[in-house]
Amino acid sequence: EKDKELIRGSWESLGKNKVPHGVVMFSRLFELEPALLNLFHYNRNCSPTQDCLSSPEFLDHVTKVMLVIDAAVSHLDDLHTLEDFLLNLGKKHQAVGVNTQSFAVVGESLLYMLQCSLGHGYTGPLRQAWLNMYTLVVAAMSRGWAK
Ligand code: HEM
Repeated sequence: EKDKELIRGSWESLGKNKVPHGVVMFSRLFELEPALLNLFHYNRNCSPTQDCLSSPEFLDHVTKVMLVIDAAVSHLDDLHTLEDFLLNLGKKHQAVGVNTQSFAVVGESLLYMLQCSLGHGYTGPLRQAWLNMYTLVVAAMSRGWAK
């Protein structure tokens, strides 16, 4: 319905430039929670933060994240088909030391990126639509922590 239109409409332009938008999102994330940078082992010895953010491995991860978001947007009508994939993705993140609480900060960073890139297009309903979808994705990933 309306939520899906808002998400698809805004992703149409953003999705064409995934990496730069993902970099905005993760720069925000590390500003809000700098300790997360240590979970990326390949970034352990770099400073300032800006150097880490431009390393190829980091950009690789940013690309992976944006592709997952892209998959979620493409599967708005049948998000359940991503369940197993997202559960396994959650397991991998538990293994690298991510806490499920950090996903809230990732969500904030996603909204921040949307706000930066959409400007006036970033409305209350659009924000809520994205938050709803993100919450479903993170809920599925978080099941990977169970047991
Ligand atoms: C893999 C960290 C959030 C998608 C990884 C890896 C690390 C990591 C260390 C393994 C190394 C690598 O592949 O680069 C984090 C941290 C996050 C975060 C610290 C924030 C708390 C996310 C989110 C998504 C995501 C929100 C997507 C919605 C992926 C994917 C992989 C990955 C697709 C590759 C998994 C595979 O190898 O099959 N992440 N991640 N990550 N991450 Fe994240």
